[in-house]
Amino acid sequence: MTTLPTALQSPPHSDALVFFGATGDLAYKKIFPALQAMVKRGTLSVPVIGVAKAGWNLDQFKARAQDSLENHGGLDPAAFQKLCALLRYVDGDYADPATFAAVRNQLGSAQHPAHYLAIPPSLFETVVEQLVKSRSAQGARMIVEKPFGHDLASAQELNRILLSAFPESAIFRIDHYLAKGPVHNMVSFRFSNTFLEPLWHRDYVESVQITMAEDFGVQGRGSFYDQTGALRDVIQNHIFQVMCNLAMECPARSDSESIRDEKVKVLKAIPPIEPSHLVRGQFRGYLQEKGVAPNSTIETFAALRLDIRSWRWDGVPFYIRAGKNLPTTCTEVIARFRKPPTTNITEPNTPQNYMRFRVSPEMTIALAVSVAGPHDHDLRQQVELEACRHPRTQDMEAYERVLTDAMAGDATLFARQDYVEEAWRIVDPVLKANTPVYPYDPHTWGLFGAPSQVMANVTPPGGWQSTINDAVDNLHFVAQPATT
Ligand code: BG6
Repeated sequence: MTTLPTALQSPPHSDALVFFGATGDLAYKKIFPALQAMVKRGTLSVPVIGVAKAGWNLDQFKARAQDSLENHGGLDPAAFQKLCALLRYVDGDYADPATFAAVRNQLGSAQHPAHYLAIPPSLFETVVEQLVKSRSAQGARMIVEKPFGHDLASAQELNRILLSAFPESAIFRIDHYLAKGPVHNMVSFRFSNTFLEPLWHRDYVESVQITMAEDFGVQGRGSFYDQTGALRDVIQNHIFQVMCNLAMECPARSDSESIRDEKVKVLKAIPPIEPSHLVRGQFRGYLQEKGVAPNSTIETFAALRLDIRSWRWDGVPFYIRAGKNLPTTCTEVIARFRKPPTTNITEPNTPQNYMRFRVSPEMTIALAVSVAGPHDHDLRQQVELEACRHPRTQDMEAYERVLTDAMAGDATLFARQDYVEEAWRIVDPVLKANTPVYPYDPHTWGLFGAPSQVMANVTPPGGWQSTINDAVDNLHFVAQPATT
């Protein structure tokens, strides 16, 4: 029998899942629902070992899983029963070798466990060391949660720790945004439509804006958020991934490394953000949140401009804004095309064409065009041609996808070491620049006291497009009034 070269062999499927931080918030909100969905879909049939220090036993752990499912997505009795048969639980301190001896024992004959660190990065080194010492690291995969470090130096240190025990090909750094259907669909939409690519270029695109707005606050995660802020929590990772999907070149091949190479190239072309191209805000009431320092200067809102100095994008500013307690919950990209020249038949105020990619709350892809008004042909109006609008419920939930892919060894939807470090390089100087934080009232876009010149630096020409939460339905190929 011919032996395939190692690179062409399919990676082994993980034969157990160990998740650290099993009694935590992430497990409660995201991981148990993902595990039940995997069981239901038939992609999970191996032991799942939860590890935490809560003084619990297996029954309490199963009760937590049940409670999680009842509150997040719904309990499916048949799937839950199957999941319970897979669940194991190890209670203990991460610094105690006995905890890892118990994990090893639960792993039994598993050769390729996937270890999932849903724990603070400060504990990574301890856990990795103990996995090595207890012989649970060999042949294993390592799945780690974001945020991956809190700046460039700490990310490099975390990479050093992980790479001391696992090869890069065995490390899966989660950014659940990558697993959202509308996010990776941007890439296939761009490269499957011949009309778009020639226009997707500095000659035709005037600016790109990306908004990630949430109409809720820190939801009890004050102590986490106060160490993090909007730049680290969602911009350096989720929004940068969206930006890379918008800006990357077509990969030469569809394997995970070719795709990830193209994303890294985008980041390499971005100079560090200038402090004058960043505005930070904090919603009024944040300082009273549990776990938040009374004099915290962490931003709950950030707006910034960055530039991609590549052949395709040089001269096209990318504007990003993200925050908590804003007027709406919506993640959306607007790429505005340049204005047509003013001639005898065009007016100076002819609306600009734009492409809209909405990631949430539903997926929409639309192209805004200018047409004659129904009654007055000289009066032009902007309408959107909607290519698609799908409610997100049809999507495989992001955590289900990342866990399924990591256990199957498919790295496409995970951040590679060089990507993570490039992303930190871009934001690192502004993280340390201690720029002012301006207050805003919850559920508003206004930043009180921010100087107009500073605001001008982070505002797209023509302003930010308003985001709307239109009713989700299944209309396709419709023209409807645009949202400017
Ligand atoms: C997480 C952030 O990574 O992403 C949260 O920590 C944020 O602050 C969340 O709310 C948004 O993701 P989603 O999938 O819930 O829109």
